[in-house]
Amino acid sequence: MNSFPSLLESITDLNKIQIEGLLSLATKFKHRESESNLFTYRRPIIATSFLENSTRTKHSFAIAVQKLGAMYIDFNAETSSLKKGESLEETFLTLFNQGVNLCIFRSSVSGQLGQFRNNLPIKIINGGDGVNEHPTQALLDLFTLFELSEDLNGKTLTIFGDNIHSRVGHSLIHLLPMFGMKIILCGPEAFLPPKETLPLSVTLCSDRDEALLKSDFIYLLRIQKERHLDSGINHLPFDGIDYLECHGVSLELLKKMQKLVPVLHPGPANIGVELDLALIKSSLYQGYLQVQNSIPMRMAIIQSMLVNNDKNIGNSHGEKF
Ligand code: CP
Repeated sequence: MNSFPSLLESITDLNKIQIEGLLSLATKFKHRESESNLFTYRRPIIATSFLENSTRTKHSFAIAVQKLGAMYIDFNAETSSLKKGESLEETFLTLFNQGVNLCIFRSSVSGQLGQFRNNLPIKIINGGDGVNEHPTQALLDLFTLFELSEDLNGKTLTIFGDNIHSRVGHSLIHLLPMFGMKIILCGPEAFLPPKETLPLSVTLCSDRDEALLKSDFIYLLRIQKERHLDSGINHLPFDGIDYLECHGVSLELLKKMQKLVPVLHPGPANIGVELDLALIKSSLYQGYLQVQNSIPMRMAIIQSMLVNNDKNIGNSHGEKF
């Protein structure tokens, strides 16, 4: 997979052939058909740099790096010279010149990595940036969906909840239609994006029960309160009502609607808000399968980027003298 990009900021950085390559490699890693300890003699160094909290993404990348036999460092932004005013570019160039080959970066700022697109200081994977995208979560979700159903063509996945602030949602709406899936975004009006911003295979629905009836897969999102102030949302129109009752999904509701379909969740899940305890404890809930699948998929992404033969990285100088 020589043409694999050195910056994975958006799902649109990958074409379908590259994504199919990742699915195939992740399957081999999962079933141990592919040698995972690839770098015994010349071990690459891979850093995570998470400027925002994470449980799943950061640790699954850390485990994936170590399963591949690479060296792992956790770059602590809080105690770094970023706090002394050093720019992000200088920080990445410093890591590159220390021999770090790849950095997995998370930030609360949307689109921050775009500035490096034409002059990459280091190979970078976006581990989630503000409300923009979370491409590796979407890829592991696709990998999980293919495990749940071999043929996704024509199937409908409904994303319920705070769609407008969901970076994984913004990646999924571009990824899943490449494999013939239809997507419904469902939630209170305040959480739905304008229709004109969406790809053609994505529709909006504010009626939860109507969306449930059309769903082959359910994808739940938590309310992302930490992103609301930046979007100018000070007050939610459903304050004072029971969100679970009106907009969330419970096991009892799925039984009543006779919709016992797989339920995915990128995590973290807020039990009692977007779903109930009975649902997360039921066999319909696939959140832990997504967590398991995150490791082989992230191994596949890291390996594909490391071996892409891109020599045009870390060019810190502009004009030559
Ligand atoms: N899915 C996800 O990004 O989870 P974390 O915030 O725990 O990494």
